[in-house]
Amino acid sequence: MHKIAMIGTGLIGRFYTMSLKHFRGKDEIVIACAREESEAVKFTEEFGIPRYTTDMAKAIQDPEVDTVIVALPNYLHKKAVLLAAEAGKAVLCTKPLATSAEDALEMLEAVEKAGVFHGYLEDLVYTPKTLKALESTKNGALGKVLWARSRETHGGPHSDWFWNKEFSGGGAIMDMGCHCIEIARSFIGKRNRPIEVTCWADTQVHPIDAEDHAVGLVKYDNGSIGQFEVSWTFRGGMDLRDEVSGTEGTVWLNHWMRTGFEMFSSVGQGGYVAEKAEGDTGWMFPVGDEIGALGYVEMFLDMFNSMDAGKAPMETFYDGYIVNAVVDACYKSTQTKQWEPVELKDWRGADGSEKGKAPALKDFDAEHYLIKEELMPSGATKLILKNKKTGAISQIIK
Ligand SMILES: NC(=O)c1ccc[n+]([C@@H]2O[C@H](COP(=O)([O-])OP(=O)(O)OC[C@H]3O[C@@H](n4cnc5c(N)ncnc54)[C@H](O)[C@@H]3O)[C@@H](O)[C@H]2O)c1
Repeated sequence: MHKIAMIGTGLIGRFYTMSLKHFRGKDEIVIACAREESEAVKFTEEFGIPRYTTDMAKAIQDPEVDTVIVALPNYLHKKAVLLAAEAGKAVLCTKPLATSAEDALEMLEAVEKAGVFHGYLEDLVYTPKTLKALESTKNGALGKVLWARSRETHGGPHSDWFWNKEFSGGGAIMDMGCHCIEIARSFIGKRNRPIEVTCWADTQVHPIDAEDHAVGLVKYDNGSIGQFEVSWTFRGGMDLRDEVSGTEGTVWLNHWMRTGFEMFSSVGQGGYVAEKAEGDTGWMFPVGDEIGALGYVEMFLDMFNSMDAGKAPMETFYDGYIVNAVVDACYKSTQTKQWEPVELKDWRGADGSEKGKAPALKDFDAEHYLIKEELMPSGATKLILKNKKTGAISQIIK
């Protein structure tokens, strides 16, 4: 049983606390920390947490605490993680790990030097659907993954600091690109090195310095491509979708809206429907188990089970560092309008020699390869062929 300090009691601190209390969980939050005392009091009373403070160092250094969960605005992650490492406590940090790869690397080095357990709380690779799809992908169901596309869009975040670049480190790319980049990377295979990126970003709607909409491509050294689409301008709720296509198969995942629970009300139900839902009348898309659907429950299971087993969880600070490095390259690309390299001072994956094999050429006969076969509406079958010697493309209709 672990004794936890929950540092931050806002939206994510609440979801984390609900997840840890899920099914009467055995790990206990013994102290919670918020900026304002009134917020801390309200939170600890609501969740039956014995102590509170407004001083993060005090919470982290609390002698009863063995595990620190960092659920603070982005610019404070580094401070909290360095304090936890110094105190010799296990530390789990929400996304993005840091506001730059440089800071992320410093945090990674600090926890490794201190020899403390570290987990990167990237919940969206832990949704039950994603875990199952990742398992099928690892088992070869899709063949070689060629393209992994991930989208998170909604009408924008819920607290002031997200909109201030000084505190958030960036806009939609920093906030949600980090999820999508890690989802695509997980499907493509974490041993494959992200080598370069190109990214479009703009501030289309809101009066802020950071981007509120972006689309990016992340190229991997095995030839696969990751694609992310993130926006704070989207209307209609929260759109969380992933699409993965490989040489032998395809996966489509829809995590939030239209997932099988649709409800209409002309009068409303008096409030909250699901995270980032825009209203409570008309057609709505509630989510039965939000903390389960978003991956928080499985994520903490992996974190604490791994901690008890003395092994690394599926997502560590190293993964957070890679994501920050990709995000940095994206911001550079939005300025230069060029493909930009992903700078990784610390690379622990494959050395590039494990490049995925090109799909095998299919023989049609001694002279031809078969490019494509299709049954047409007329009932005929068309075969598109390539001559092995001349390269000429032809077709026959059967
Ligand atoms: N799916 C996810 O994994 C997910 C979802 C939302 C947010 N997040 C991440 O969680 C972090 C927090 O986001 P949020 O949505 O909970 O924000 P929030 O604004 O709802 O809450 C922030 C919390 O931090 C506390 N805080 C701020 N400054 C503090 C200080 N100096 N000392 C102590 N406490 C302080 C506030 O009191 C509040 O409890 C961010 O890094 C965000 O990116 C992750």
